[in-house]
Amino acid sequence: MLIDKFFENGRQFLGCKYPIMCGAMTWVSDPKLVSAVGNAGGFGLLAGGNTPVDILEKQIIETGELTENPFGINLITLAPVYKDQLELICRLGCPLVVFAGGIPKKSEIEKAKEHGARVVCFASTAPLAHQLIERGADALILEGSEAGGHIGPVALSVLIQQILFSVESVPIFIAGGIATGRMMAHLLMMGAAGIQMGTRFIMAEECMAHSKFKETFRMAKARDAVATPQFDSRLPVIPVRALKNEGSIEFAKLQLELLNKLDNNLLDKLEAQFRVEEFWAGALRSAVIDGDTGRGSLMAGQSVGLVDKVQPLKEIIEEMVSQAESEMQRLRDALNQ
Ligand SMILES: Cc1cc2nc3c(=O)[nH]c(=O)nc-3n(C[C@H](O)[C@H](O)[C@H](O)COP(=O)(O)O)c2cc1C
Repeated sequence: MLIDKFFENGRQFLGCKYPIMCGAMTWVSDPKLVSAVGNAGGFGLLAGGNTPVDILEKQIIETGELTENPFGINLITLAPVYKDQLELICRLGCPLVVFAGGIPKKSEIEKAKEHGARVVCFASTAPLAHQLIERGADALILEGSEAGGHIGPVALSVLIQQILFSVESVPIFIAGGIATGRMMAHLLMMGAAGIQMGTRFIMAEECMAHSKFKETFRMAKARDAVATPQFDSRLPVIPVRALKNEGSIEFAKLQLELLNKLDNNLLDKLEAQFRVEEFWAGALRSAVIDGDTGRGSLMAGQSVGLVDKVQPLKEIIEEMVSQAESEMQRLRDALNQ
């Protein structure tokens, strides 16, 4: 197959058949999903989220029992349990860790590597990509702002030109807005070692997300997946891309109400910031687990507009690979004409 040549780097780095990663998704990426991705030839990531260490340890062991293929762990550096989780993955000798959420310290990257892990970091801007390589990252994920969940400020088309086209020292995986094999083919031909998807894998049969959560994804259009707005720099909001619902409307109203109170000295800034931060607490869980699609957080990328059915995981991966191969053959024929 033509695609084999383009898979080579990613295959070697991840140790799997297809360098197609299922991005970690808090509350979603459990042992069942991660092992199903591995068994289908892709590469799954367990979501560290804010999972207590004893539960994360059980999940790592359970995933290892469900698949013989490699998988990784995603740690959110801003999570209260992050330091303990890092200790755990070092103790267990996990082979691959993806640091997310904030910029990992050089000492943390070194520590993970000393314990045998390959380290992957998200680069949401060009300067950050260079800084992470300097700190020892073995590979980068470039994630465009069209992705689901917490997002960076720059669109994938620009990140590709700024980073993928200039960095050669580490493998680069691409995420955000990908849901077709045809797109994957072009990213591989541009130099990507592989890709990462989140939104499309929500629609896997093996994904435990509530059926109402999946149904909302099925019905949604690309433009429904919007980034949380920030109205004033006095009330900073970490942008998250999610489907619009009652919760997001209420959140916007809350910000305006708090800003009004700040203007009239009816509230101090700290209290206002606390009210903003607590608003979404538990909201992803209630959407994913309880199916509260009205008030819960429906984190989704704009690629939601490209998914319209629930499918077995193996079918998703096989479809991605066969579409990518057809696209490469189409281009080869076009070039030879
Ligand atoms: C519901 C949801 C939860 C997510 N949680 C995390 C997370 O815990 N850690 C992380 O690094 N990325 C998280 N992400 C981002 C995904 O891992 C992935 O990079 C992203 O979904 C890729 O963009 P796409 O949705 O367009 O495919 C999440 C995404 C979604 C949709």
